[in-house]
Amino acid sequence: MWAARGLSRALRACCTSAPCPKPARLPRVSVRDALVSQEPGENVKVQGWVRSVRSQKEVLFLHINDGSSLEHLQIVADPTLHGSNLTFGCSVEVQGVLVKSPYKKQNVELKADRIEVIGHCDSKTFPFKYKERYPLEYTRQYPHFRCRTNALGSILRVRSEATDAIHSFFKANGYIHIHTPVITSNDCEGAGELFQVEPSSNMKKLGKNFFDVPAFLTVSAQLHLEVMSGAFTHVFTFGPTFRAENSQSRRHLAEFYMVEAEISFVENLQDIMQVMETLFKTTTETVLSNCSEDVELLHKFVAPGQKDKLEQMLKNKFLIISYTEAIDILKKGSQNFTFTPKWGLDLQTEHEKYLVKYCGNIPVFVINYPFDLKPFYMRDNEDEPQHTVAAVDLLVPGVGELFGGSLREERFHLLQQRLARLGLTDAYEWYLDLRRFGSVPHGGFGMGFERYLQCILGVDNIKDVIPFPRHLKRRL
Ligand code: 4AD
Ligand code: MG
Repeated sequence: MWAARGLSRALRACCTSAPCPKPARLPRVSVRDALVSQEPGENVKVQGWVRSVRSQKEVLFLHINDGSSLEHLQIVADPTLHGSNLTFGCSVEVQGVLVKSPYKKQNVELKADRIEVIGHCDSKTFPFKYKERYPLEYTRQYPHFRCRTNALGSILRVRSEATDAIHSFFKANGYIHIHTPVITSNDCEGAGELFQVEPSSNMKKLGKNFFDVPAFLTVSAQLHLEVMSGAFTHVFTFGPTFRAENSQSRRHLAEFYMVEAEISFVENLQDIMQVMETLFKTTTETVLSNCSEDVELLHKFVAPGQKDKLEQMLKNKFLIISYTEAIDILKKGSQNFTFTPKWGLDLQTEHEKYLVKYCGNIPVFVINYPFDLKPFYMRDNEDEPQHTVAAVDLLVPGVGELFGGSLREERFHLLQQRLARLGLTDAYEWYLDLRRFGSVPHGGFGMGFERYLQCILGVDNIKDVIPFPRHLKRRL
């Protein structure tokens, strides 16, 4: 353990009036690796952004962060090593020796013999100040800086880890990853929430169309995945999805990421629901074990109470109710809804919230929706008197609908009749072909990735779980 005075003297011996000669190239270590270093005494270089500067008479303390961990690395240096431009927010390169830290909070610290400011930061005009804790709404005003705050840092590290965990889940279960197209001519969901893709004005002047049919940004990769499940049996994709939602709600984006899976040779919804539930639970367990500090920070400061709620979700088997039961529950419910629940109408957010609460805040699958409410591809249950399709939505606490899925109509004649009624036969000839040649019972689902992050972290607004939110009237 050093006395501050002794340290100061030792450092001054190396760095007096003349600047130190630049030492030989040192290995760069990340803050994360430095913090768990088992080799104190190692000469290293660390690069990052200054999160605090505390200059005492004898010693200078710095905290720097490079995004690799929530925890900052403490730098200890001679105060003469820095000029006035070493401020909160500036970028630096620090060279020195990793030493065992005398402080309980950290394992190691860096005893610096060279500090170089790479990029200045005027702390007076920089929108974030030292030691302030900002609400997420405030940080949202600065999409180009908010990733440097603790909260966004943690959310985006969790996002990265969850992405890996999802890929690992599917790989471990024998799914093939498919890169489905972003540009497509189909409106899979039939809701008309499409962004059209047009050539730039230069192309237009030439009077040419790029594609021979109107083209859009994809609203779901499902139909392309169905093609692939006809060869690979188990497939998934995880990519950007676009919907021209006329909504500023806290759970809708114009561009979001969807995890979609398609499985051949399944004949009942139970099998699909099993995959959904295991995906949710396995991914979450992995995130909790690999990002414990980040999740803890968010559960502590952003969503108090969320830790217990999440434990409940992980520990309990998800529930299953039919759409018809859901409507009965809502009709008998004590709440006065803005939208009166009625068989045949969509469940509104207020209904979803009520149902989840009614189910004890355990995620609940709602199955078998009215035939007329759902897209053309869903499998007809051929039931009476209430005609339904084999659809499933998973509703979760705090968010509402997290997954949407179904069995697909694999019977040629039923699909053909349905497409004909909708006037879609020509556009979907290729889709009918899948039923003509080697059709199998199959089904799948899509999970909104941002809503998943909201659900596990307890983040209220979807705009805070994506690096650059795109929504009505806003983008960076
Ligand atoms: O329920 P959806 O519309 O289902 C489909 O698109 C199916 N074709 C998926 C499939 O079976 N392969 O969307 C799936 C999920 C929703 O449950 C929701 O979590 C999310 O995508 N989602 C959105 N997330 C953010 N912003 C939006 N505008 C969203 N719209 C849907
Ligand atoms: Mg849906």
